[in-house]
Amino acid sequence: MTGNRTFTMIKPDAVENGHIGAILEKITAAGFKIVAMKYTQLSLRDAKAFYAVHSERPFFGELVEFMTRGPIVAAILEKDNAVEDFRALIGATNPAEAAEGTIRKLFAASIGENAVHGSDSDENAAIEGSFHFAGREVY
Ligand code: CMP
Repeated sequence: MTGNRTFTMIKPDAVENGHIGAILEKITAAGFKIVAMKYTQLSLRDAKAFYAVHSERPFFGELVEFMTRGPIVAAILEKDNAVEDFRALIGATNPAEAAEGTIRKLFAASIGENAVHGSDSDENAAIEGSFHFAGREVY
């Protein structure tokens, strides 16, 4: 089946601020099933590889530094229309532009430290999920 999975990370800012539980509650209340999940910390090498698509952007250094500064929660989520529905749940990349009630509006402080990641396409959801999880870790 395509279109029914997305990949997310609860980023270091949200973990530091104690929001893991509240964010997971929003995710499951919205109908997403967690099919893989781990609490982990990205190495510099991991973060540079995961965000390679942004390597020429001016904010790349800041992004890698932020994403490696503490633990994250990585997860694969399942739901019909997962990528689009999850992006609606988390809100705009910049929390200042995120809709009321979205995860970023509730828990994020800035465009750089924006609490959660959500894949932007089915193809990237599959790539990002396999970056973090072996097949036997997905249930
Ligand atoms: P995300 O979509 O999860 O993955 C790429 C990240 O780059 C994005 O979240 C933001 O956190 C970050 N990002 C995007 N634009 C900027 C920016 N202008 N300044 C700092 N970080 C940014």
